[in-house]
Amino acid sequence: MPQNPGWYYNEFKQIGVDYTDLKEVETYDLNMQKLRDIENEAKGILELLKIKNMDLVLEIGTGTGELALKLSGHCKKVVAIDVSRTMIYFAKTKAESQKKTNIEFHNAGFLTYENHDEPFDAVVTQLALHHLPDYWKMIALKKIYGMLKGGGRLYLRDVVFPSLILDYEDFFSKIITDLKGSLGDKFAKEMEIHIREEFSTLDWIMEGLLKNAGFCIEFAKYDGLMASYLCKKLTSID
Ligand SMILES: C[S@@+](CC[C@H](N)C(=O)[O-])C[C@H]1O[C@@H](n2cnc3c(N)ncnc32)[C@H](O)[C@@H]1O
Repeated sequence: MPQNPGWYYNEFKQIGVDYTDLKEVETYDLNMQKLRDIENEAKGILELLKIKNMDLVLEIGTGTGELALKLSGHCKKVVAIDVSRTMIYFAKTKAESQKKTNIEFHNAGFLTYENHDEPFDAVVTQLALHHLPDYWKMIALKKIYGMLKGGGRLYLRDVVFPSLILDYEDFFSKIITDLKGSLGDKFAKEMEIHIREEFSTLDWIMEGLLKNAGFCIEFAKYDGLMASYLCKKLTSID
């Protein structure tokens, strides 16, 4: 495997919550099962990405593998990657216990995964891209573009900051106070760490990055701090 140059970003270094810690991974899994309706999320993503039986799908930052498990029932193969060895171990164990045989797990990330197989029909990544600084988000999106078939789609969901805010101090303080009230101290602390140490970017920057990577943005939706984008790699007949 060729070595990256000395200036290349080390995406395996944990920022924010340490997802190499098994306790954190177990807690993350439990919380997500409680707070999210993954079944419904997967249904929506299958429709948006128009996933078919013979499709190859890549999930980047799979975490505990819940989405990959659900998608695998509707396509030929899911390649699920994550920079945390612990997450991959956890997700793989879950897949084995559910006798899922068409998910390929790799301990790799946006910047280090190399696809030596056919290009993908669809790529999905949720709550992971904010781990990279903006320049490296650009490299990551270009790599995704390169791994997709013409006509293939990317679904990206992540924490993105709105740009039409007059007072950011007020804005973030209110978010922390509301989170404390609704989900408790641990979530509020994690959001503080997110804002302070992770690399969520602004809405207009994210849209610019996607366009500059070559994508046509079919939709960009914003709901508080959550943003979702459906993007297409156009073909010559589009
Ligand atoms: C907040 S979790 C989200 C997991 C899952 N996608 C979900 O929606 O629940 C973020 C995940 O992204 C992974 N991650 C962080 N940086 C990454 C990178 N550069 N490439 C791939 N995965 C990364 C972390 O290890 C972690 O599993």
